[in-house]
Amino acid sequence: YKIDLEGLVSLCKRRGFVFPSGEIYGGYNGFFDYGPLGAELKNNLKRMWWRKMVHCRDDVIGLDSSIVTTPSVHQASGHVDNFSDPMVDCTESKKRFRADQLMWAKVELEDGTSAGYVSMVEDGNVEVALKKAAKKLIKQKKIEGGFKELEIKDMTDATEEEVKLIPSPATGLPGSLTGARAFNLMFETYVGPYSDGASKSYLRPETAQGIFVNFKTVTYVMRQKIPFGIAQIGKAFRNEITPRQFLFRSREFEQMEIEYFIDPEADFKAIQEEWIMEMWNFLKAVGLKESLLDREVHEGEKLAHYARACTDIVFTYPFGTQELLGVAARGEYDLQQHAQASGESLEYQVPGQKRKFVPHVIEPSCGVDRLFLALLCSAYDEDEIDGEKRSLLRFHPCVAPITCAIFPLLKNKPPLVEKAKGLAAMLRSSGFNVLYDEAGTIGKRYRRMDEVGTPFCCTIDFDTLEDDTVTIRRRDDPLKVERKKREDIGAFLMKECQ
Ligand code: GAP
Repeated sequence: YKIDLEGLVSLCKRRGFVFPSGEIYGGYNGFFDYGPLGAELKNNLKRMWWRKMVHCRDDVIGLDSSIVTTPSVHQASGHVDNFSDPMVDCTESKKRFRADQLMWAKVELEDGTSAGYVSMVEDGNVEVALKKAAKKLIKQKKIEGGFKELEIKDMTDATEEEVKLIPSPATGLPGSLTGARAFNLMFETYVGPYSDGASKSYLRPETAQGIFVNFKTVTYVMRQKIPFGIAQIGKAFRNEITPRQFLFRSREFEQMEIEYFIDPEADFKAIQEEWIMEMWNFLKAVGLKESLLDREVHEGEKLAHYARACTDIVFTYPFGTQELLGVAARGEYDLQQHAQASGESLEYQVPGQKRKFVPHVIEPSCGVDRLFLALLCSAYDEDEIDGEKRSLLRFHPCVAPITCAIFPLLKNKPPLVEKAKGLAAMLRSSGFNVLYDEAGTIGKRYRRMDEVGTPFCCTIDFDTLEDDTVTIRRRDDPLKVERKKREDIGAFLMKECQ
C-alpha cells in the first residue's frame, strides 16, 4: 500500500470525502459525515448495486422498511436476547474493551526470555497481536532476532486466574481487568411521549428483519414465485464497544442486503455459490482490485447459530485482511421465528400444488461504508508524469464522484467559456455529474481532478471554435490526449460508465 489508514483518514477530510461527525465539537466516536464527494461516491455505489441486483435481475425486487419498528420484531429475531459482544472492563482506566479483540500473546525470544502482552486487535487478528507483542518485547530488551510463539488467546474465555495476571491494555497494571460479560449492541429508543419499558424500541441492527417481516405481503402483492429475492439498502445501528479502523466498524452504517428465498429441498450450497460469484463480480464491476479480494469460509464456532453456511468475501485493507461482505445460508430460522412469535403463517404455497413450506434463505449482506473504505484503499495511487509526482484515486468511471471535468482553455475568452458551460449543461441534463472549472493552468486543473479520482477532463480550446471538437484527457493515460466531437462526449461517457 502507498497509503496507511491514517493517511487515508486525512485524505478523506482534505478532499471532501468523509469528516468526523460533529467535528466542531471534537467529533463523536463511531459516527461519520460524508462530504460532498463522499456523498456522490456512496450514492454511486448504492445505485450500481441496486441496478445490478434489482433492475438487471427479474428474480429480485426491492423494498425500504422502517428503521424503528415494533420491538416484537427484534425479540423474535433473537437480537434482544443474543445480539451482544463479550466485553471486559478495565477497572484502572475505566475503559471497556471487546473481549475477542483483546489478544494475549505470549512469545519467547532467541535469548530464551519470554513475556505476555495484551493488545487490541481488530477482530482478533492473531498474527498482528503476535507481531505487536514480539516487537514490544524486542524493543524493551534491546535484542535482535526472531521469536517463538508460546501461546495466543483472546479474553473471551479467560479464567479468573488468568484475568488477574493479564496487564491492562490501557495502564499496563496487572489484575485490572474484569472477566468477559455480554453487552447488547442494539441502540434503544423510546417511541411516544413516555420513556418507560412499554415504549422502548430499538434502532435496527441489520436491514434484514424488515425484509423477513414483509415476506408474506410482498410475495402476495407482487405475485412472486420462489426462488426470488427481496433487496434493501438502508441504515443500521450497532453500539459497538470499540468502533475501529475508520469506516470499517462504526456505530451508524449502511447495509445492502438481499434475502433470497428458496425451496428447502433446493441445493442451497449451489445457490449460495451463485450469490458469492454475483457479489464478487459486483465488487469487480465497481472497480475493486481483484488481487485484494479473497474468500473465507465460516466453520464451527465462527458460524452464527442461525446459519447453515457462511462465506465472507474478505478484502486486504492497509490494516489487514478483514471481512467486506458475507453470503450466509440462514435456513428457515428467521421466518420460522417470526411465524411462531406473530402467530401468522409464513408458509409459501407452491402454485398449482398442495405443497407448502417455510422457505429457506440465502443472504448476501454488504456494508456500504466498508465497501467505500475498500474502494478508497484500492483506488489510491501515486505516480510521476514528466518528472512531476502526482497522487490520484483510480475510481472506475461508474462510481467516480465527478465523471468528467469541463475546462475552457482560457477564462478570459468568452466564446471558450460559453462553449464549455454549454457542454457542462448538456452533460448534466444527460444525468452526469460534471464539474466546470476555469481557475488556474490546465495542468493544475488536471491535478485537482486526479486527486479526487475524476476519470476524464474535457478542454474547450481554439480548435473547438473551428471544428466543434474538444480534447479528452484520461486520468489513467494522461499523456495520450485525444479529440472528440463535442456532441459525442455524452455517448462516450455513457459507454465508459458501463
Ligand atoms: N444481516 C446479516 C448481517 O447483518 P453482519 O455480518 O453482522 O451480517 C453484514 O453484517 C455486513 O455489514 C458486514 O459484512 C459489513 O460489511 C457490514 N457491517 C457490519 N457491522 C458493521 C459496522 N459496525 N460498521 C460498518 N459496517 C458494518
